[in-house]
Amino acid sequence: MALYIGIDLGTSAMKLLLMDGEGNIKNVVSKEYPLEFPQPGWSQQNPEDWKKALYEGVPELLKGFDAASIAGIGCGGQMHGLVVLDENDNVIRPAILWNDGRTAKQVDYLNNEIGKEKLSALTANIAFAGFTAPKILWMKENEPENFSKIAKIMLPKDYINYILTGVHSCDYSDASGMLLLDVEHKCWSKEMLEICGITEAQMPALFESFAPIGTVMPSVATQLGLPENVTVCAGAGDNAAAAVGTGVVGEGGCNISIGTSGTVFISSESFGVDDTNALHAFAHADGGWHLMGCMLSAASCNKWLMDDIFKTKDYAAEQAPITEDKLGENHVYFLPYLMGERSPINDTNARGTFIGMTMDTTRADLTQAVLEGVAFAIRDSVEVARSLGITINSSKICGGGVKSKLWQRIFANVLNCELEIPVSEQGPGMGGAMLAMVACGEYDSVKACCEKLCAVANTVKSEAKLVAKYEARYQQFKKIYPACKSLFAELN
Ligand code: XUL
Repeated sequence: MALYIGIDLGTSAMKLLLMDGEGNIKNVVSKEYPLEFPQPGWSQQNPEDWKKALYEGVPELLKGFDAASIAGIGCGGQMHGLVVLDENDNVIRPAILWNDGRTAKQVDYLNNEIGKEKLSALTANIAFAGFTAPKILWMKENEPENFSKIAKIMLPKDYINYILTGVHSCDYSDASGMLLLDVEHKCWSKEMLEICGITEAQMPALFESFAPIGTVMPSVATQLGLPENVTVCAGAGDNAAAAVGTGVVGEGGCNISIGTSGTVFISSESFGVDDTNALHAFAHADGGWHLMGCMLSAASCNKWLMDDIFKTKDYAAEQAPITEDKLGENHVYFLPYLMGERSPINDTNARGTFIGMTMDTTRADLTQAVLEGVAFAIRDSVEVARSLGITINSSKICGGGVKSKLWQRIFANVLNCELEIPVSEQGPGMGGAMLAMVACGEYDSVKACCEKLCAVANTVKSEAKLVAKYEARYQQFKKIYPACKSLFAELN
């Protein structure tokens, strides 16, 4: 039976998985790499580290398996990161990542001088600091020498696909987050490229996520231990790939992902824009489109509190004192804006904030406040979707953050939503492998592949009493950011 490799090019690690065409996971390997914060609010990574992870990860993944059975590879990658190559395809500078906030000035220029209306007409979106176009403008202004060397611009997972195949490609879901794509018509916006001072020749070729872009080059195949002619598909942005992995394709599905970032992803068969542009309007990996809200720090807020502040790895022990009677009763609130925030407030100045502490506040109250604060901030995006008339009574939920049953329960009650936990927790990696299956003809469509492979393990229901308590607390939470907004700007 044919085997497929799914790659999740994450922010902290590359996760690789080996899967057969029926969805059985044969092996999983994870390779970590560093993340640099050269200045507060900046975030970058070296594409060479991703390459190293690939070269170490694939042979390790294949150990003990029949490599000759590998038919395809698909990658789901962290979105929006600016990867720039010179005319010899060498990386010019470290990639500026999705959660980097250095472009406040360029975002301001795009949204206020070019104008949100024009941006939305051209690309279906407005500028956010993490998007690729403001980063290109930042480079043009701050690193003119580097800027003049750019021969190709691509996104993180496209660099992996380039290493494998030698092809400069990008898929529509990931390209949507560059603010350079005409999302409705699925082509580069000539006007946006001009605004950024670049040409179409510097952009990669566009593909549907499930389309083959080429095969692994023979020299690379030898080094990775792969057979000849392994198909590589265009892959997808990690959120679109995760949605495929949880079976959220076609009309009206919802997936919530709680990883380093937190996202609410609503799939659709037709193109649509949020008139307020608070939610991103992007292409989906199944050939359709989606709306998405993205918070920059989700599970990473809990990780920060546990690892960096409490200096513990035992997250469960920290959550144990948060007993039944404590849910919905916490007097402490937390704003989860440790990297500024994208959806829906679009504010690079916003910062993480605890508020409401008293002399009897405990360590567990702070832990609970962080779990609740992330859920409240996800609800902010859910509420934008609901205000557009979209019903969200039920959603898939995935990502490392929601392995905790307590956090699952908090989400279900804060969102007043039934949450379906998928059988397989592999998110973007699984989606990547599934896209490769479609590219290799194992399935006729992404939808058909999801119908076969995506099952729900269990459902977490909301509880009326807790929904009421959390509703009251959410109404309080909503008042905190507006009260701090001008102070955040002043402090920065
Ligand atoms: C989505 C976004 C994040 C990254 C995380 O717009 O910026 O979810 O894709 O890898």
